[in-house]
Amino acid sequence: MGMSGLTALVTGATAGIGRAVALQLADEGAEIVVHGRDQDRGADVVAEIEKAGGSARFVQADLGDPADVERLAREAGDVDVLVNNAGVYKFLPTSEMTTELFDLHMDLNTKAPYVLVRALAPGMAQRGRGSIVNISTLAATVPAKGAGMYAASKAALEQLTAVWAAEFAERGIRVNAVAPGPTRTPGTDAMDAASLQAIANTTALRRIAEPEEVAEAVVFLASRRASYITGVVLEVAGGRPAIG
Ligand SMILES: NC(=O)c1ccc[n+]([C@@H]2O[C@H](COP(=O)([O-])OP(=O)(O)OC[C@H]3O[C@@H](n4cnc5c(N)ncnc54)[C@H](OP(=O)(O)O)[C@@H]3O)[C@@H](O)[C@H]2O)c1
Repeated sequence: MGMSGLTALVTGATAGIGRAVALQLADEGAEIVVHGRDQDRGADVVAEIEKAGGSARFVQADLGDPADVERLAREAGDVDVLVNNAGVYKFLPTSEMTTELFDLHMDLNTKAPYVLVRALAPGMAQRGRGSIVNISTLAATVPAKGAGMYAASKAALEQLTAVWAAEFAERGIRVNAVAPGPTRTPGTDAMDAASLQAIANTTALRRIAEPEEVAEAVVFLASRRASYITGVVLEVAGGRPAIG
């Protein structure tokens, strides 16, 4: 994929989809800035990358705090590939959704990517190259019970993807999104297994994805192989079943 010499910041790389993306980008030769909150899991991912012959360092930051997001951008340094992966998903009927949870979804899923792009895209533009991949969700476009706040925060991210793609195109920066379906991660392991399988049963493939399957699409969009692709949302969601 021609990623040697490039630096990639992957948010939420201590677990799940972000971890799989970090490992695959490192395999392609990129130097990885592994982001998360959990120091031990961050150190584990860095060690795994180094053991495979790659290069990585961990930067801890709480994306719920915009000042900490700014600090993450500063400590990451020059970034060529930004994967906005860290996110939160809480499923609750609107009548039970608290204002605090509303803010948490917007802060992590929408505001943190915004702050990172605002901080890092000018450097990419100056160097004349850059690729940004935002991790959305199928729930941003397909209504799901209890997913209102989550869906809204990711739908905003999808619209930002389209705007950023247009805004930064002339400066050599591509911006795309991946919308996964139900994927096996520590986050979904904490959910009721039957509910996750019920979501999987609404896909054509009728199964839960492994994080590595989502990561393949993210790495492709981030790479030079996707050099003529910008502003798309690629569904990695097991396909839609036929009606009837
Ligand atoms: N899994 C799915 O079925 C699925 C489907 C569609 C879309 N997605 C999207 O894919 C992305 C990853 O999901 P996942 O299931 O892999 O997540 P996960 O297993 O819950 O892992 C979440 C990651 O985000 C980080 N994170 C969470 N809160 C944070 C905070 N306040 N500050 C900094 N980092 C924080 C965690 O880091 P620490 O643990 O180190 O704090 C961890 O690395 C999310 O954006 C999610 O919306 C997932």
